[in-house]
Amino acid sequence: MKFHEPKNLALLNAGIIAGAYTILFLLSVGIIFENAFTHFYTFLALIISTALIFSIAYSIFLLTLEKFIYSKIRLIYKSIHLVKVGKKGQPSPQPASNIIDHVQEEVENWELEKQREIEQLKRLEQYRRDFIGNVSHELKTPLFNIQGYVSTLLDGGLEDPMVNREYLKRTEKSIERLVKILEDLDEISQLESGQLKLKITRFDIFSLSREVTELLEMKARKHEIQLVINDPGKPVMVEGDKDKIRQVLTNIIDNSIRYGNRENGKTKITFFDMDENILTEITDNGIGIGTTDLVRVFERFYRTDRGRLATKKGKGLGLAIVKHIVEAHQQTINVRSAIGVGTTFGFTLKKA
Ligand SMILES: Nc1ncnc2c1ncn2[C@@H]1O[C@H](COP(=O)(O)OP(=O)(O)OP(=O)(O)O)[C@@H](O)[C@H]1O
Ligand SMILES: [Mg+2]
Repeated sequence: MKFHEPKNLALLNAGIIAGAYTILFLLSVGIIFENAFTHFYTFLALIISTALIFSIAYSIFLLTLEKFIYSKIRLIYKSIHLVKVGKKGQPSPQPASNIIDHVQEEVENWELEKQREIEQLKRLEQYRRDFIGNVSHELKTPLFNIQGYVSTLLDGGLEDPMVNREYLKRTEKSIERLVKILEDLDEISQLESGQLKLKITRFDIFSLSREVTELLEMKARKHEIQLVINDPGKPVMVEGDKDKIRQVLTNIIDNSIRYGNRENGKTKITFFDMDENILTEITDNGIGIGTTDLVRVFERFYRTDRGRLATKKGKGLGLAIVKHIVEAHQQTINVRSAIGVGTTFGFTLKKA
């Protein structure tokens, strides 16, 4: 029995009043003590008056509950609906007869929804705080360096031919790093807000990979890394934004050089035909990425401890951009790796 339903509540209250009335009646006519229950008319009067009182009490309770309390609940119900769906332009529905159950259901759903929103907002707030912290941290290093070089130059270094050129060169490098960080951040925010429109064309990803490796050849040689492309013997035609995919390849291959193995370092690029898509895999035999880091390398500013040890140069933005670009193509990117063995990044593109 649901006691929050108006009918049941009214029944309960009317029952209590009728019960109380019966006891009072019996006491007042002294029947209890005289054991005169056999008195037919007294008994009849009790039954009729109790029934009458019960019905009157029941009607009054039902009316009061429905009129005052439930009209208020109806209002709450409508307000919840207005907040929930009103902004989407839907009319608020007429509540059904079993309004309490509906309100309870609505409030519970509403609470769940609000909890989810609060959790999401908390996550966003944490993300925003981390992001601002990371950006200022990244900008500080080159800025402090520039400040140091300029001070040294002003304190007499400008006149010293051994110092001035070198310090100006270093200043230029720090400025270049600042510009690169800002460009990367700008690109990420454009990709995230969906402002960046892809220029989709058909192109051969094999020859694009060759272009990229040729450009990175010098750097690879400096790090004693051999860049190899598995020649498929024919063009590998895909659909995508060629410039953006060039950036994807450059970032991943650049990483394989940066975090590569100094002895017999090798980066291999392979293409796999997967019915609708072409999977491009870039495999290195470098320092590798641990399991706990593996799920985080696509986060902005995330760098592994081993990566930091290998080079100070990274900003931790390359793979975040790569992931955004691949996902903007409605495609996927994945990574597998083992410490000391090597890493493989693989991304798909639609076959053309
Ligand atoms: N091939 C790889 N082998 C080992 N570790 C890697 C490899 N690629 C990426 N990592 C790790 O993942 C981190 C993130 O890579 P990401 O390219 O996003 O940033 P980065 O190379 O540090 O800086 P940048 O923004 O200049 O590319 C690196 O700092 C490194 O720790
Ligand atoms: Mg990188």
